[in-house]
Amino acid sequence: MEVLEAIRDRRSIRRYDRRDVPEEKLMQVLEAGRWAPSAHNSQPRKFVVIRDEETRKQLARIAAYGGFLADAPVAIAVVIDPSSSNHPVEDGAAATQNMLLAAHAVGIGSCWIGAYGSGYEAKARRILGVPVDKRLLSLISLGYAADSGSSTRVELSKLICFERFQ
Ligand SMILES: Cc1cc2nc3c(=O)[nH]c(=O)nc-3n(C[C@H](O)[C@H](O)[C@H](O)COP(=O)(O)O)c2cc1C
Repeated sequence: MEVLEAIRDRRSIRRYDRRDVPEEKLMQVLEAGRWAPSAHNSQPRKFVVIRDEETRKQLARIAAYGGFLADAPVAIAVVIDPSSSNHPVEDGAAATQNMLLAAHAVGIGSCWIGAYGSGYEAKARRILGVPVDKRLLSLISLGYAADSGSSTRVELSKLICFERFQ
């Protein structure tokens, strides 16, 4: 799939069918995360792959807008190390976006889950064994799509200006 096509056609998918995500596709997704840019190429991120149903259910229970994690066969937690980059959030976000696009390119639906309920991050860190000096930046749900998702965007003409901000 062309990059531009993947960018344009990817939608957040929150409903999945029962098929598992093949290991080969999962590795392609993770590989895309690995090749994301980062400030000074510091790569301050790790990806926790979660297939275990009980763990996904625990995360789904505490996520404010991520209940569907329980039904996605795979989740990836993007963990960043704030001490080893000037821009850890951007570095983790770039990896997250790469993985969403790669998932779409290999026919797997995904959703970025980052809207935490109160105390979510600490609870999720405990569930996943993430130490306190690291941050859980995002969770990505992965699975074969059971719907096509839908969303819109602001018109390009309202988004861009030239030479000076307007
Ligand atoms: C930083 C960030 C956090 C997000 N958190 C959630 C979330 O917690 N739950 C969810 O269902 N979607 C979440 N999303 C997905 C957005 O809702 C979605 O990208 C947006 O509505 C546009 O839809 P689209 O991805 O289908 O184009 C998040 C997206 C971003 C970039």
